[in-house]
Amino acid sequence: MQNLLEKINQKICSINIPEQPAELYEPVTYTFSLGGKRMRPVLALLGYSLYKDDYEKALDAAVALEVFHNFTLLHDDIMDNAPLRRGKPTVWHKWGNSTAILSGDAMFIKSYELLSAYEGELLKKLLPVFNKTALEICEGQQLDMNFETAKNVSIADYLHMIELKTAVLLGAALQMGSLVSGATDEDAQNLYEFGKNTGIAFQLQDDILDVFGETEKVGKQTGGDIISNKKTFLLLKAFELADESTTEKLNDLLNEKNEQKKVEGVKAIYHLLEVKKLAEAEMQKFYSKGLSALEKVNASAEKKKVLTDFTEQLMQRQS
Ligand code: IPE
Ligand code: IPE
Ligand code: MG
Ligand code: MG
Ligand code: MG
Repeated sequence: MQNLLEKINQKICSINIPEQPAELYEPVTYTFSLGGKRMRPVLALLGYSLYKDDYEKALDAAVALEVFHNFTLLHDDIMDNAPLRRGKPTVWHKWGNSTAILSGDAMFIKSYELLSAYEGELLKKLLPVFNKTALEICEGQQLDMNFETAKNVSIADYLHMIELKTAVLLGAALQMGSLVSGATDEDAQNLYEFGKNTGIAFQLQDDILDVFGETEKVGKQTGGDIISNKKTFLLLKAFELADESTTEKLNDLLNEKNEQKKVEGVKAIYHLLEVKKLAEAEMQKFYSKGLSALEKVNASAEKKKVLTDFTEQLMQRQS
């Protein structure tokens, strides 16, 4: 794992980022330098490694996914009004919205530049996966915003939204990594399913950490989802379980202007209704569903274990 991370970070450092105009490129270097878990490129390389050992061949695709992900974070932080990311001020907070939009755009283009290292039949397989995923993330992000003000969002709606905004990229990482190694379409598809279901569990966990995590570990402002009325599993489940008076309290809290009062009030109701445990059970359900898809993948048990060791660690994360 240490080896993979080193290779990924070396590759990221080797991306040619011009110096001028500095207002455009400095935020790009800043974002890359703050690290992050690098989970999407790791998944791509592990997907490749199920079949072949020379995983360097998948580095361009792996890092294209990471650069794309970093681009989405720049825009997401504007949309979510988030001040902190990876323990440091977000790009919009430091340099303003226009910078975060444009530096994000530059990263988006860089991700395609990396992907164009492949050619011929392989590129013809990778591009549609990447394009489909990128557009689905836009769809998911739009639904995420629509839901902030929507009434009657169901848990099924929520699950559909997080599948789009987050899970498909994890699926695509495994699928693309395996395709670079020449895996069959069927194996690549089952790996996609494994990644997608793991990704749904991952976003459930992200939503749990947004409420119950520690800012120092998560590197993000906690309580942000509550402040912006995000329709998370936790909130929707709370509404589902609440009696009449608790429902009224929750509705009042959605309109509460004092942020601290709002976060504390909603958290108290989450504790009362024990929704965290239910969200964790939901995570487990999707992760197990993913594992069933992984069982169908034709690769050695030993190689698959390297992959599941990594995903199981993800499921336990505090950051
Ligand atoms: C954050 O992704 C955005 C989500 C999809 C929840 P990560 O939690 O993977 O962020 P980094 O890259 O490790 O910082
Ligand atoms: C982000 O979901 C998904 C994408 C960036 C596409 P969140 O908004 O929950 O991610 P964080 O919590 O800001 O990392
Ligand atoms: Mg968001
Ligand atoms: Mg966000
Ligand atoms: Mg979040």
